[in-house]
Amino acid sequence: MNQRVVVGISGGIAAYKSAILVSKLVQRGFSVSVVLTVGAEHFVGPATFAALCNQQPVTNIFDSRFPLGAHIELAADCKLMIVAPATAHIIASCALGTSDCLLSTLYLNMECPVLLAPAMSTPMWDKPAVQRNVQQLRDDGVHFVGPESGWLSCRKIGAGRMSEPEAILAASEPFLL
Ligand SMILES: Cc1cc2nc3c(=O)[nH]c(=O)nc-3n(C[C@H](O)[C@H](O)[C@H](O)COP(=O)(O)O)c2cc1C
Repeated sequence: MNQRVVVGISGGIAAYKSAILVSKLVQRGFSVSVVLTVGAEHFVGPATFAALCNQQPVTNIFDSRFPLGAHIELAADCKLMIVAPATAHIIASCALGTSDCLLSTLYLNMECPVLLAPAMSTPMWDKPAVQRNVQQLRDDGVHFVGPESGWLSCRKIGAGRMSEPEAILAASEPFLL
């Protein structure tokens, strides 16, 4: 049975919470492949996820561990792809199918369900361009959890706060059976 989950982490401050999500998935017995965008590496380090997952996260599509391409090999036999946090950038890249980084290229290769947990400031979340991209992805069959309304790192309260790891895990449950 396929018990591997990909967790993509893009460049938002909420990335620090994704370590908890990854740990919970590992504790549930899943093999977790973490993909960090260039932006994510400004917020969290590979060593954290290497230790949590017992495997190095993937940051580069030309990673020599994957001769067929990380975007191909990570998509094979994957049960669920979660992106948390999902930035406005990665949402746009996936909606447009730009394939301009490992994570968006991997998204295009995925045949399993995809769950996005957006996180961004309220003005970004409310922007018509972002909402258009979210709607496009919903129409494409992508699942969403959050964002919630609450405290944001820009020191305001409003929509755009990433759902807590427990809520992301709960939203993942139907796809993890
Ligand atoms: C301190 C800081 C916090 C940021 N937080 C977010 C965020 O929560 N959501 C978001 O969409 N972009 C955020 N950004 C902007 C992204 O990091 C930027 O758009 C980046 O290009 C995203 O690239 P990625 O999606 O490939 O990681 C933040 C930038 C900085 C400097």
